[in-house]
Amino acid sequence: MARIERGSTGVSPLFSLINENHGRDARATSISLLEARNVHRVLGSGDAANHILKGVNLAIHPREYVSIVGASGSGKSTLLYLLGGLDRPSRNDPAGKPFDPPSRILIDGQDTARLNDTQLALVRNEKAGFVFQFHYLLKEFTAQENVALPMLKLGRLSKSQIMDRAAMLLKRFGLGDKVKRKANRLSGGEQQRVAIARALANEPAVVLADEPTGNLDKKNSELVAEIFQQLSEGGQTIVMVTHDSAFARRAKRIVTMEDGNVVRDGELVGSGGGEVR
Ligand SMILES: Nc1ncnc2c1ncn2[C@@H]1O[C@H](COP(=O)(O)OP(=O)(O)OP(=O)(O)O)[C@@H](O)[C@H]1O
Ligand SMILES: [Mg+2]
Repeated sequence: MARIERGSTGVSPLFSLINENHGRDARATSISLLEARNVHRVLGSGDAANHILKGVNLAIHPREYVSIVGASGSGKSTLLYLLGGLDRPSRNDPAGKPFDPPSRILIDGQDTARLNDTQLALVRNEKAGFVFQFHYLLKEFTAQENVALPMLKLGRLSKSQIMDRAAMLLKRFGLGDKVKRKANRLSGGEQQRVAIARALANEPAVVLADEPTGNLDKKNSELVAEIFQQLSEGGQTIVMVTHDSAFARRAKRIVTMEDGNVVRDGELVGSGGGEVR
């Protein structure tokens, strides 16, 4: 278990249990967990067609912590949602010609093109945990119920096991006293931590996060960055989109997008603080 650093925010004691490993060491292989092969995405049609991703190739391996950076509109969210099976690549270019070779997304070795929507939803619920800029919690439900939801959908555990695990995850993120509180009565930072707990509920192979600190103040952003760091040290695979260059740099690998393409992989554009462009 990694040592917990006490950061300037003084929030670290929360994470005493964060490095639950779930045997991920055994999974550390060179086989990709997520793979994009010649991935194109075209939205709209005719004159309004927008060619958003232009043949992206990217492989994410178990235990990697990857950040995706780039200017607004460069296609980061589109790529993240495709990698997580929330969306599918396009077959044809704006003129109607099929892409060659066809775009492919593989999740844990499964070609998503071979899965129907129900099968894809199952794979997504089992393999991927999503964290968004806006937490999308069900506000009339308690923190515990929100975290329980993906486990209830998966149906692997009994109701009591699910509620116990939800409470354990919330405790892990310092929300032990907020388990029974309705989501709309939590602060923004607390809500985002509930959303992270929810993302981890089914022990996902990968956590996919789209600007998870985009809506948080500095202190809560640091808290989330620290959670991600600790998760990564515990073996969790993470792919995160962020505009925050300091946060991006905490990842071990930085993928830079520009106008629908991956233009750099492994290095950060520019230096110093501020936004990553
Ligand atoms: N439904 C849609 N129809 C047409 N174009 C779209 C649609 N959704 C997104 N786009 C366009 O696709 C491009 C990429 O969008 P995307 O959301 O992936 O960018 P991003 O890199 O995540 O940007 P940001 O940093 O602002 O979140 C943008 O130009 C956007 O306007
Ligand atoms: Mg985006």
